[in-house]
Amino acid sequence: VAEDGLNAWLRYARVPSASHHLGRLPSSVVTLNATQGFPVHTAGEELVDGIRGLFGKKLTVGKSKDTTATVGTVSAYVDKNPSAARGLPDLIEDGFYLKVSKGNVLILGQNERGALYGAFHYLSVIAQGNVSDFTITSNPDAPVRWVNQWDNMQDGGTHGSVERGYGGDSIFFWDGYIREDLTRAGQYARLLASIGINAVVANNVNANASILTPENMDGLARIADVFRPYGVQLGISLNFAAPQLLGGLDTFDPLDKTVVNWWQGITDNLYKRIPDMAGYLVKANSEGQPGPMTYNRTLADGANLFARTLQPHGGIILFRAFVYDHRSLNQTLDWKADRANAAVNYFDGLDDKFEDNVVIQVKYGPIDFQVREPVSPLFAHLRQTGATIELQITQEYLGQQAHVVYLAPMWKELLDFDLRVDSKPSTLKDIVSGKRFGQKLTGYAGVVNVGTNTTWLGSHLAMSNLYAYGKLAWNPELTSTGILKEWTTLTFGHDKLVHDVITKISMESWPAYEDYSGNLGIQTLTDILLGHYGPNPGSQDGNPWGQWTRADDDTIGMDRTVWNGTGFAGQYPPEIAAMYENIETTPDNLLLWFHHVPYTQKLKSGKTVIQHFYEAHYRGSATAQTFVTLWQKLKGRIDKERYEHVLFRLIYQAGHSLVWRDSVNQFYFNKSGIPDELGRVGNH
Ligand code: GCU
Repeated sequence: VAEDGLNAWLRYARVPSASHHLGRLPSSVVTLNATQGFPVHTAGEELVDGIRGLFGKKLTVGKSKDTTATVGTVSAYVDKNPSAARGLPDLIEDGFYLKVSKGNVLILGQNERGALYGAFHYLSVIAQGNVSDFTITSNPDAPVRWVNQWDNMQDGGTHGSVERGYGGDSIFFWDGYIREDLTRAGQYARLLASIGINAVVANNVNANASILTPENMDGLARIADVFRPYGVQLGISLNFAAPQLLGGLDTFDPLDKTVVNWWQGITDNLYKRIPDMAGYLVKANSEGQPGPMTYNRTLADGANLFARTLQPHGGIILFRAFVYDHRSLNQTLDWKADRANAAVNYFDGLDDKFEDNVVIQVKYGPIDFQVREPVSPLFAHLRQTGATIELQITQEYLGQQAHVVYLAPMWKELLDFDLRVDSKPSTLKDIVSGKRFGQKLTGYAGVVNVGTNTTWLGSHLAMSNLYAYGKLAWNPELTSTGILKEWTTLTFGHDKLVHDVITKISMESWPAYEDYSGNLGIQTLTDILLGHYGPNPGSQDGNPWGQWTRADDDTIGMDRTVWNGTGFAGQYPPEIAAMYENIETTPDNLLLWFHHVPYTQKLKSGKTVIQHFYEAHYRGSATAQTFVTLWQKLKGRIDKERYEHVLFRLIYQAGHSLVWRDSVNQFYFNKSGIPDELGRVGNH
């Protein structure tokens, strides 16, 4: 059963009435120009394994007179069948064409990776029990569909931990080196390829310079080798000060000639070993990390340094917009101080200064992966330089996989948000697909942080988030429930009750978590210093981290208006700025993000802020109790190991939601002295 965990949604478990469908399946597989170790060859193997597992049918390899699955690139196909070219649709990079007709299957990718994606798509369709004829053309919405792992090379010199990872140690690193056995890295690449992910940055954004020693470069090449069969490219996080830390130079000034040469040497050496390396990811001048501003250079000077070294090799650099100084903010003295302002302040004026192969990686919200944030206004400011949206699959502030929180509904809300740039429709999904402003390099970056745990993320149900991330990066029009249905079938089978229960729990989980954690845009209210877990509303304020709530005895919330506050609302395009500037037009769920109000402020719902807190916390934690009883209905309907593993966590979540409820409610009662109208808080 551990295998089931490792294979996640690629278990290829037998479908119901499998034997009735054999005639509608191919009997043999033909791969066009396949080379072992490359995606088309992998696609052939997956088809054989998949159809054997799903239907118990053994495919022969090579042409047969019976039905055939043919898989390869468009160009390989057209070389063999020149007359077929006219009938084929236009594909963009990584796209595929798939035609199923009476058991014959044609899978063509624009490139090898696309062919593999097409094979996985076909397997997913038949695994869901659909063996009828169909034809589809599928192109990705955006070219950059990356995963970031925050894996440490070393941790106090001993092992490979994962920052904000809740699923065990690093599958890549151990003791400062790349692991000898990279089996898990290959299995990870397989899962990622099946959901359209095309690159993985293996090491933490808080990067060790030592990843660039010759020995570790050799190790990185071994990671790239196990990724390559799946069309997953390797990316690397860099430490900006590496020329000094590792290279022995006395500077890491991005405009210094010796520094430029040093980085060019490193990049050339990496590409010698990994000719298809994806590129770099850089966190600079943030939370104590070194960067160009150390030398009074701009962030563009910093990004371009790497961009230029990558250009001869075709690589790209994802440069993070998560730039802020966690030491300089003073809450008590400065009413206008606001960490949320940092990204736009730092990047404004730089939009046209970046090289073509720079992409700015922007967290979805202006602070840090909170349960509710407005869309980062920086997305409206980058019109020439492309952006990737950074989402977090690992549930750092969202229960760390000990709580079920299905994130697709939150991501959908963000992606559907219309920033109204120049008063024109400007949904976030159209900005990160490059459609709105026409940039070529845009897309998605997801912080995943799987580990050695056989569930990958530490929880079976959390894997729906990884699945949904890949699916939405390919096509943000998909629905949260549709994605979930697919994932549930592939992971747990076809039982209707299993589906009903997982759908209900998942769809109620984000609203419930928001209800029992931080409401009305006040942020999640986890402990700020101790691991971002569990309730600690008091920890938000009185420190320089800038995730403030400004809660006192009478009032709460951040005034981010232009007329009286930090001015953050003014970073949005005018229509959106006007909406958030005005308390009347600010949606309730972001009220305290934008406004500082008395606890007795009336919401649009008619309730006061404080009463809303109390009620939401009772409601959310009550919902979490129902997850346990819902799940218990599935006893005997799924294997014992996964049933018990999920149940254990749901019982824990139910209990912890009560801790959340009572701590948060009590905290605000203690501050405000206003009891719950329904007599549950403060009246005894
Ligand atoms: C969060 C997280 C850190 C991480 C940082 C980042 O603050 O807690 O662990 O390094 O984000 O995204 O760089």
